[in-house]
Amino acid sequence: MTAAAPEPKVNMGQPVPRYDAAAKVTGRATYASDMPLDNPAFAFLVTSAIAKGRIDGFDLDDAKRVRGVIDIVTHENAPKLKESKLFSNGGYAGTTIQPLKSADIAHDGQIIAVVVAESYEAAREAANRVKVSYTATAPSATFDSPGTTTAAAKGQSAQFKEDPEVGDFAKAFDTAEVKLTASYETPTQHHNPMELFSTSCVWMGDNLVIYEGSQFVYGLKNGVAEQLGIDADKVRVVNPYVGGGFGSRGSMTPRTAIIAGIAKRLNRPIKLVPTRDQGFTITTHRAETRHEIKLGASRDGKLLALRHEGAEVSSRPDAYCVGGTKTTARLYACPNVASLVSIVRADRNTPGFMRSPPEVPYLFALESAMDELAVKLNMDPVELRRINDTTNEPIGGKPYSSRSLMACFDEAAKAFGWAQRSPQPKSMSDGEWLIGYGCAATCYPTQMAPSAARVRLQRDGRTRVEIAGHEIGTGAYTVIAQTATERLGVPLEKVAVFMGDSDLPPAPVAGGSNSTASTCSAVMMVCDQIRQRLFKAVMPDSLTDKAKETVGISQAPATQAAKSDRPLDIEKAFNALGVGVVEEYGEWKPEGAPLDSFKAMHSGQVRIVGGHAMKDQIAYAFGAEFVEVRINRFTHEIRCPRLVGAFAGGRIMNPRTARSQLMGGLIWGMSSALLEATEIDERNARYVNDNLADYLVPVNADVPGVEVIMLSEQDDHINPAGVKGLGELANVGTNAAICNAIHHATGQRIRKLPVRLENIEV
Ligand code: MOS
Repeated sequence: MTAAAPEPKVNMGQPVPRYDAAAKVTGRATYASDMPLDNPAFAFLVTSAIAKGRIDGFDLDDAKRVRGVIDIVTHENAPKLKESKLFSNGGYAGTTIQPLKSADIAHDGQIIAVVVAESYEAAREAANRVKVSYTATAPSATFDSPGTTTAAAKGQSAQFKEDPEVGDFAKAFDTAEVKLTASYETPTQHHNPMELFSTSCVWMGDNLVIYEGSQFVYGLKNGVAEQLGIDADKVRVVNPYVGGGFGSRGSMTPRTAIIAGIAKRLNRPIKLVPTRDQGFTITTHRAETRHEIKLGASRDGKLLALRHEGAEVSSRPDAYCVGGTKTTARLYACPNVASLVSIVRADRNTPGFMRSPPEVPYLFALESAMDELAVKLNMDPVELRRINDTTNEPIGGKPYSSRSLMACFDEAAKAFGWAQRSPQPKSMSDGEWLIGYGCAATCYPTQMAPSAARVRLQRDGRTRVEIAGHEIGTGAYTVIAQTATERLGVPLEKVAVFMGDSDLPPAPVAGGSNSTASTCSAVMMVCDQIRQRLFKAVMPDSLTDKAKETVGISQAPATQAAKSDRPLDIEKAFNALGVGVVEEYGEWKPEGAPLDSFKAMHSGQVRIVGGHAMKDQIAYAFGAEFVEVRINRFTHEIRCPRLVGAFAGGRIMNPRTARSQLMGGLIWGMSSALLEATEIDERNARYVNDNLADYLVPVNADVPGVEVIMLSEQDDHINPAGVKGLGELANVGTNAAICNAIHHATGQRIRKLPVRLENIEV
């Protein structure tokens, strides 16, 4: 075993190498824009230079003179499209702002024209020659800009149903011995996956094939069909590999139906590869947020009152919000809780999901405040979490299905060397470097959604798994292949997995860290159907019908069954059945899934359950993160030499891919705390650093030490796979852990992200 492939502990699968590793490192993995097209035309987008107002007219003469231009599509001649509701309101779209519909401009960088030409270069050249005259009005950019409106999220957003509360916060806070009130801010951030937001559309008669990196092929298929007004069965979305998602490809963006409509009209395949800066405004982003936290505690550190007020910026028409109080109100034992989430409308593109959407900003606030409270109480911050640890969430009193928060704190503290910390701020240094140690809790809801799968087993053991899941770099191919291996007892090299194609059996959006739990549970179930058929075929007649129903099916993997006294003789079973291939299709749904789940699954609508919204319990994965920061006394340069995280996420399917996910999360968390912010020119409501040179992300030298510890955890109450999901868990706590470490190093409390050297005042 190596650092990259940790030794499995109890309830962990094998750290097998990635199923798609060779394809990726040899360039055989085909991403959307790699797909060969027959005689394509190339599209280039023209985007708005104003954030609010209207287009008075276009001067296209110069653009049309570029050799190779085929068509220039504006609102005056664009194909008519139907509207789709917002993803979070039961539709498919990431925004209801539909470009090319009218002369109105809703945000900077909105698509206002599409130039189609014989080559990419010609399309780009012509796009640069499109002249637009506007009537611009002053836009409202963000918090504090004149002209924004603010209202409670409840009642506006279908996704945000309730501001959690319990007890009497006001009274408890009033009488608490120790009180803290503090405000926090997080910036706009953009996902910037490596793969650009490309879309290729090919019509064959009435049938449309879309090549586009997506986290949800069924959603995109049904959403585009809805916008085009055609039967969803006529649309197929293909993306066997996706070059990063992080939430940016979960919902449909307007570009896809636009390109499909133009391809239909021109009767030609069209390929669009938007530029990096266009990606900042034609998809979604993490919205800027503000928080006020009030904590009241007894002298011995027991939380008595907690209030979390959050505000998030959204666009004018869309009430998008993440509403992380659903988590922060439930994380610690506290009898009196109040909360309020508000949405601020500005002249911006609609924000959307970005890795751990609710938990990243909301736990930054809560976990910073917990550290501030620990300082006030003169208490070790780990002990403050221990005193307020709980087996039941305080709002509804429901038990956590399992909760290893303090075990994570203890393991990570030991590995980090927390005991060596001298608690006094500014008390540790090394030459000109001030040293700070900080920590924070991390958590993420365990979520699941209905999923289908088809599995085919051949006599020689070759196995084919078909499921419209998504490989967004997480290891989905690998863990699905491992599931089939474990349940059917066939060797891994005989398993082929087919994903990223809406012609395959439906799987949920690869979002909310639900993929492994959902797809592996479905694949397990279908593999068990196959085992059942095989066992029945060779079973002695003397067994009762009841026994026949269950024989061969147990929680124990087939690999173990195969080693048992009475292994299944596959050869004999196939002979008895008189077939060469056994194939099964099945649809799995999690406990508590609504009645319309399977119908919704086929129409690409999400029915995610889990987290705080379960009936008799709530389910979360937990972790603890410890960081060391070093701050130069003279230059204020901030370094982060060590990130240590311990995590418990139920069954770990593959410690190699899991470690990679968690490591990526920690690194992104550090990036979010110290580097990432989309800067907004408030006069023009425009993103300024919309490129990878100015939008700061870490390089290897910024991340010298990352240590991931995975705890053994078994949770039989969540889903058949026993999986909690790891994609989003690790970047949640890091923002706070770093700010807490900066406070320890300098005595300065920073409540606004990101923290850069100009913010340090020592
Ligand atoms: Mo994730 S931000 O739920 O794709």
